[in-house]
Amino acid sequence: MTIVAPIDPAKLRACTKPFYDARTLPSEAYHSDEVLDWERRNFFATSWVCVGRAGDLAEPGSQRAAEVGGTGILFIRGDDNELRAFHNTCRHRGHELLPCGASTQRQTVQCPYHRWTYGLDGTFKGGPTMAVQPGFDKSDPDHSLRRAEVREWHGWVFVNASGDALDFDDYVGNLEDLIAPYEPGRMFVGASHSYEIAANWKVIVENYHECYHCTEIHPELCAVSSPTSGEGIQPSGLWVGGTMSLRNGVETMSLDGKSAGVRIRGLDDDSAKDVGYYMLWPNLLLSPHPDYMMTHRIEPLAPSRTFVECQWLFPPESRQRRDFDPAFAADFWDVTNRQDWNACESVQRGNGGPGYRQGPFSEQEVQVYEFALMVAQGYLTGGVREPVPHFSDVRR
Ligand code: FES
Ligand SMILES: [Fe+2]
Repeated sequence: MTIVAPIDPAKLRACTKPFYDARTLPSEAYHSDEVLDWERRNFFATSWVCVGRAGDLAEPGSQRAAEVGGTGILFIRGDDNELRAFHNTCRHRGHELLPCGASTQRQTVQCPYHRWTYGLDGTFKGGPTMAVQPGFDKSDPDHSLRRAEVREWHGWVFVNASGDALDFDDYVGNLEDLIAPYEPGRMFVGASHSYEIAANWKVIVENYHECYHCTEIHPELCAVSSPTSGEGIQPSGLWVGGTMSLRNGVETMSLDGKSAGVRIRGLDDDSAKDVGYYMLWPNLLLSPHPDYMMTHRIEPLAPSRTFVECQWLFPPESRQRRDFDPAFAADFWDVTNRQDWNACESVQRGNGGPGYRQGPFSEQEVQVYEFALMVAQGYLTGGVREPVPHFSDVRR
């Protein structure tokens, strides 16, 4: 049964019109607790959601709990090196096995409430006095932890809490061809920043998808990349995005346009002139550069509050450079991120008041339109399961 989001459908249909007639999302999409609850259940729980890097769960016995779409999930690296995900709920009386956000390293999973114990593969091992209890069958698989779907993709961990997301390869679609040449699976995290932003998660994604604002708020960015450069790309999976080009003579996105790293092996001169800006639904922004990969991982905390983890990943050869310092990338983007967060917080203050009306898009906001279309269609149909159609005649 389709469960439509608690928003006036007429307002949503304004977002799904052809580009030149379409309007931005309505105010409730950014401000309502009911809408965010709905999104957790129908966007996040039923999709693949990125929860971070697999390198944080590298050793057998590594365990970490996270909240995904309102559901607690426990990630465990097994003795066989396989990464598994389970519902973070004890099979006795439902205590969390690990607090969400916490990590540990041990050879069993043990519930802190009455000490029921499970193997790293989720199998029930025992609980105090249960072995001698009449009628209790220790080998009954019903006592074992409930699995959730998990996938590793180029070093990122994705989980599907509901178990009915799209097939992972269909979900990623042709984004695989755009990301694979950068080989992010072999990269290391050189820098990581956490931000908490007083704006809805979709305001942050929309801002990411356009450079219409760049001349106004990003002087450093405009010095190294033309805001009107680049092009959108037709997605075949659940993603939206395109490229922008570096200015002539610029090596990468940094404050002086120079790289303190190395070009990613396998990139030719042409592809080393571009920076990609891709949103993999619903919460991972991937920005491949000639010499590093930047990601923003987004977690909604409340309608007007969002956690963002921004990471800069580098190929291992970077470390062979004696003057290698990830700050050339992180400093540039930290300045730019903060300019963006200020704009996003201002939008959030402005789009909740009585003066807000659903506005039109400029031709430099095609990807914002595509994202709003994805969201609005998802609201109307109970979830996002199809790529958006692309409007290749309109440049970003
Ligand atoms: S709820 Fe976990 S051991 Fe009782
Ligand atoms: Fe920006």
